[in-house]
Amino acid sequence: MTSASAKPAVTGDSSAVVLAYHARTKHTLKRYAAGPETLDWDLQPNPFREFSGCPRTPLEPAAEGLATRFGEAIMPGGVSAAPLTLPSVGLLLELSLGLAAWKELGPDRWAVRCNPSSGNLHPTEAYVIARGVAGLDDGVHHYLSRDHVLEHRCLGATPEGATPGLWIGLSSVHWREAWKYGERAFRYCQLDLGHALGALRYAAGAIGWRVRMVEGLDSAALAALMGLDRTEDFAGVEAEEADVLLAVDTGPGRAPPAAPPMPAGPWTGRANRLDAHPMYRWPVIDEVSAATRSLGLPANPPLAEAALAPPPERDARAADILLGRRSAQRFDARYHMPAETFFALAEALLPRASVPWDVWNYRPRLHPVLFVHRVEGLAPGLYALPRHPAALGDLKAALRTDFAWAPVANAPAHLPLHRLVESDARGVMRTVSCHQAIAGDSCFALSLLAEFAPRVSADPWRYRQLHWEAGLIGHVLYLEAERAGLRGTGIGCFFDDALHDLLGVEGDRFQSLYHFTVGRALTDARISTLPAYPGRRPPPGASPSLSEDQTP
Ligand SMILES: Cc1cc2nc3c(=O)[nH]c(=O)nc-3n(C[C@H](O)[C@H](O)[C@H](O)COP(=O)(O)O)c2cc1C
Repeated sequence: MTSASAKPAVTGDSSAVVLAYHARTKHTLKRYAAGPETLDWDLQPNPFREFSGCPRTPLEPAAEGLATRFGEAIMPGGVSAAPLTLPSVGLLLELSLGLAAWKELGPDRWAVRCNPSSGNLHPTEAYVIARGVAGLDDGVHHYLSRDHVLEHRCLGATPEGATPGLWIGLSSVHWREAWKYGERAFRYCQLDLGHALGALRYAAGAIGWRVRMVEGLDSAALAALMGLDRTEDFAGVEAEEADVLLAVDTGPGRAPPAAPPMPAGPWTGRANRLDAHPMYRWPVIDEVSAATRSLGLPANPPLAEAALAPPPERDARAADILLGRRSAQRFDARYHMPAETFFALAEALLPRASVPWDVWNYRPRLHPVLFVHRVEGLAPGLYALPRHPAALGDLKAALRTDFAWAPVANAPAHLPLHRLVESDARGVMRTVSCHQAIAGDSCFALSLLAEFAPRVSADPWRYRQLHWEAGLIGHVLYLEAERAGLRGTGIGCFFDDALHDLLGVEGDRFQSLYHFTVGRALTDARISTLPAYPGRRPPPGASPSLSEDQTP
């Protein structure tokens, strides 16, 4: 069998490939990165991968009955651990990658999920690797969110006495994004992957579990583990690229071993074709994908513990926030958000040993530059939030020399927030964000500046990693905004160098990888919302079977 995801040797060429890819996929004020000239919306790729011929395990939607508050879900030890059973696995997936609703407008009908995705195209796929989970057969399962079922791809009988364990592998179907976005699509797939990491970490918190990234497995091993290198099962259909493996820590004394054993087989099922009539090819995506494969994640020390403020008394239910998260499509351009809410959102972006940052054992490499438009008691203008003390000097050196780097008088003393310049930046932020009104009508928007070329050159895999960190930051903003009664929207479309020019960033030591915007959303009353799994979500108040006494 030829491996569809065979690991290339990382050479000096790989970093050149990645840096060249990044440069050629920049949108500019004069031209967008190469993409399709026409789109036939009736021929969109199928957003759901499924495998024909696999035994299926239905999962019962149970989020409606989960009483956990959002503040408890993000607090270390805030929720007692659910047992390692099929209902718990179902709830983890339902709250992270499951459908949140179906939407309808006229003849159009589309699903939205707990995890957001650029263009709602959802390139991220998930594989559950189970060992000794009560009610679930051992082996490798693919999660099909449309039906909330697991498709059993590979048997994996548990050896006598083996520790039970649960892992989740994530992969990307690049074509889903490339269909619409052309060459820039690889970036969007990686940002979406970061959101999926965040979605899984929050969902795990809601049932007292943790997830952590498994170190030391290279891309080829990851592909083999998820069955993505089985060319016969993917013959003639869109390939999937292995991205990352997460180990699920399901409670005290139940941490799984770092990596599961390689599945011995047999495998069942064939992947479906997502796009019957692909009109374009973007070979540069395969090149950058190969150039950024991992040789095994480096081991990193865990983050230091940090205290979190106790959750507010009237905190929302975690499930309502995770399922209710939506992207704002329009903002109330007269609304000013309270300063405390703004500071709380900024604070939530700082790394600490709590949800979701404990999934990210790496020094923060992305730093927001905030374009404050409408925050009570805060002068409109540009602000910087270096997420690591060591970045402050580098950012000062990289950004415009006339930026003030002044303290923000009413900000909490420990928040590393600096005012760069007072200015009405609504128009300019809208312009550099591909003329999208959401970047100027919000309360604030931001650009995430990544410590870029030196890191990517040293290890091209970091190109993926930097985007994952950006997606993770975006996910925190989505959920914290929702919790505060506001809404966010990720912005993948921006004019890269126009933004850099605005900030005075020269060269590629720092690069902007993602924009985000937060404000009070205006909803479109014409769009109707229908249940995600009609007839399958239990009525509100019904309690899911998650008590400890069910532990196998
Ligand atoms: C990486 C990323 C980039 C996005 N870029 C944009 C954007 O440029 N403009 C926009 O209006 N929405 C953007 N979105 C929002 C998506 O369109 C939205 O997530 C998707 O339609 C699903 O809707 P939901 O977030 O309400 O579930 C982006 C989302 C992600 C995750």
